[in-house]
Amino acid sequence: MAIFMSMGKSVETLLGIDIGTSGTKTVLFGTDGRAIASKTVEYPMHQPQNGWAEQDASDWWDAAAQGIRAVLAASGADPAGVRGVGLSGQMHGLVMLDAGGALLRRSIIWCDQRTGRECAQINELVGERRVLEITANPAMTGFTAAKILWVRNNEPAVYEKCAHILLPKDYVRYRLTGEFATEVSDAAGMQLMDIGARDWSPEVLSKLGIDRALLGAMHESQDLTGRVSAAAARETGLAEGTPVAGGAGDNPAAAVGAGVVRAGRAFTTIGSSAVVYAVSDGMTLDLQGRVHTLCASVPGKWTVMSCTQGAGLSLQWLRNTCCAPEVERAARESKDPYYVMDGLAEGAPIGANRLLFLPYLMGERSPHPDPDCRGVFFGLSAMHGRPELIRAVLEGVAYSQRECVDVFDEMGARPDDMLVCGGGARSRVWRQMLADLYACPVSLTEADEGPALGVALLAGVCAGVYASIDEACGAAVRKGGALQPDMDAHGRYEPYYQLYKKLYRDLKGDFKELAAIG
Ligand code: XUL
Repeated sequence: MAIFMSMGKSVETLLGIDIGTSGTKTVLFGTDGRAIASKTVEYPMHQPQNGWAEQDASDWWDAAAQGIRAVLAASGADPAGVRGVGLSGQMHGLVMLDAGGALLRRSIIWCDQRTGRECAQINELVGERRVLEITANPAMTGFTAAKILWVRNNEPAVYEKCAHILLPKDYVRYRLTGEFATEVSDAAGMQLMDIGARDWSPEVLSKLGIDRALLGAMHESQDLTGRVSAAAARETGLAEGTPVAGGAGDNPAAAVGAGVVRAGRAFTTIGSSAVVYAVSDGMTLDLQGRVHTLCASVPGKWTVMSCTQGAGLSLQWLRNTCCAPEVERAARESKDPYYVMDGLAEGAPIGANRLLFLPYLMGERSPHPDPDCRGVFFGLSAMHGRPELIRAVLEGVAYSQRECVDVFDEMGARPDDMLVCGGGARSRVWRQMLADLYACPVSLTEADEGPALGVALLAGVCAGVYASIDEACGAAVRKGGALQPDMDAHGRYEPYYQLYKKLYRDLKGDFKELAAIG
């Protein structure tokens, strides 16, 4: 992505770095929340087996260092004026380092689903009920604890050498500061914390046999976790000693960037995954584990959050496998391929001429914690073309969000006003689908940099630029326009939505059978 705008020197700035799945986005902000310069560096995801997903943690650091150098150069900003750095990133990923800080293997990332056996092992060792009571979630294949056990069970020589376990953004923190540290909002997704106490759980750690010394120091999201080291300063161009705040997992970071920091507020974000995220003053659990309960990035607050594993990822897959003509047209017209694909989807009717898509390309978490389910096009006909395929993918992801919001509803947490953010929010068709399916207005945030802005604001609180997260959001987050629901469209989606829900129930056993073959 291009670097944009430049500025004069000696202005106070904040840096937000978001380590995503498709790339790392580094953004330099003014203290009013306006983006001054932005740089995204992409890298691959490796899928050595069906259901596995890995990335090279060194790619994340290289992308962050390159991004920092690029935004400093493009803006002409004085590195000494950068008041603080905030880190955000894909949640749940496992990074293992040896005693010298060297990487031991590729990171097993959030959407990897290889750990069904290890989840059973967690239930056996800790007790199914205690897992839920302490970690606020049932044993999840996507969460980090099961991945740690997988390495211990399958690669004992690697586990033997492991001296440090970090999350993706915390690895970048280590490279920036030399500190092994984390913060509550991201660590809550490791399944090793007592979520109510906002700290590591001695009981879970001892029952799983994981040494506390392997894990980073625990902080709140706005706390100081370290300062840019001399070596990192040389590599990035930042000033040595620049404060690095706790930051947050990408979703709790996006919450701050969208101003969703008080009970009752909610947003939907569509990135590689799609998440519906609501803030609460206390812990609310779904005993069936259809949605997650985690610590929010605001002290004293918790969150209920759903995660659809294959959201933007499904559309990216369709772009890469079926939409070469749209990619070529986009290149000719200097447009984003997704913009061209959106135009095609708009031309297809609600229900995509009776074509449904189940977005389970990477298994699913919410509202079906099921590592074995897989994607489905249902109702394919010779009359369907790419417009219907694209529309069906957009609709399938939107149905999944509605299904999660229905769970929030059962828990007494249905939002009546929804913000929408992430790359998918750029699609007007997708936004309107969400408004129609939720039957409530869907508003945009003015800034497009959600998680990066969120952690830049947390860094601002850490550095004393703002007195509180509330004050930071007041100074820097602006709500954009709202789309109203079309209640006629809501009614027309309904039979498709009901069928969409039924398809998972009908196919559940068949997915298991498919997974068992070979
Ligand atoms: C949330 C989750 C994803 C990743 C994607 O639980 O796994 O949203 O954080 O970046």
